[in-house]
Amino acid sequence: MTFDLKQHLTDQAAKVETVLDRLLDETPLASEITRPPRLLAAMRHGALNGGKRLRPILFLETANLFQHETEGAVLAACALELIHCYSLVHDDLPAMDDDDLRRGQPTVHKAYDEATAILAGDALLTLAFDVITDDKVHPDASLRLRLSRELARAAGIGGMAGGQMLDLESEHRDRTETEIRRLQSMKTGALLRYACRAGAILANASDSDIERLTRFGEVIGLAFQLADDLLDVEASAEAMGKATGKDAEAGKATLVGLLGVEQTRAELKRLLQEAEDLMQPYGETANTLKALADYIVNRTN
Ligand code: IPE
Ligand code: IPE
Ligand code: MG
Ligand code: MG
Ligand code: MG
Repeated sequence: MTFDLKQHLTDQAAKVETVLDRLLDETPLASEITRPPRLLAAMRHGALNGGKRLRPILFLETANLFQHETEGAVLAACALELIHCYSLVHDDLPAMDDDDLRRGQPTVHKAYDEATAILAGDALLTLAFDVITDDKVHPDASLRLRLSRELARAAGIGGMAGGQMLDLESEHRDRTETEIRRLQSMKTGALLRYACRAGAILANASDSDIERLTRFGEVIGLAFQLADDLLDVEASAEAMGKATGKDAEAGKATLVGLLGVEQTRAELKRLLQEAEDLMQPYGETANTLKALADYIVNRTN
């Protein structure tokens, strides 16, 4: 029987979905006083509304590459997805990209209101650190500490949040190719890099394997954002579940805008080749990760 990637991705996404659903339960945890229903509903709207779950899937597959398949890995992968979901809730706010549609549904601030969306983002971010530090992630506390600190670095000023700042600033100024690449390696790249790096760390992989997987994460991180920018130019809102044509409208600096569609496609091809080369030492064990890289480059939504 040939390996059915689509089915495998659906199964992995379902695992993540089940745990996210549990984490966003109405029952307060120890030391929590109560979970206000409106805030919880907004958080659930932002986190349980049909994302592709690419980051947690990459996390799980990277850990699997080193034969680490545990419930703790799913938990850690969910912490990363919570950060991603928070970043989207805030990215869509009127003060940022001002979007009404996300994953085919009204954005959180449309379904609720702006203040609730801000708080939902805040609480998703905070919950992520509750989850990543959970004893069940890994018995070794120093390893959990490393995962937590690296997650903070990927999400914060020198990672995603910093990249969002540079992205917003780029609406008002020209950027060189180097600057755009750096911006993208932060706003989108940092979390995808973390997905692959942290999976290897959790699995206790060797330093050289961690570095290889980190590079793999960087390469597919850039490819992911290039594909997103191409889709913003070429795809429909129906296919994407979010508005398209927004980057040019906002005057955002993207590589597609700078290099054009053809050169961007060539760059995507080059990145896919690099990702595949990086997986070469692992042979067939890395087939799923290679297929994921291919999916990220050639995705249609
Ligand atoms: C969208 O990410 C935001 C970017 C970083 C470009 P995804 O395309 O992974 O969004 P979901 O989670 O599947 O909705
Ligand atoms: C969003 O980038 C990146 C983060 C949320 C960190 P975009 O603004 O390009 O994402 P979309 O196109 O709205 O999904
Ligand atoms: Mg944005
Ligand atoms: Mg946006
Ligand atoms: Mg975009």
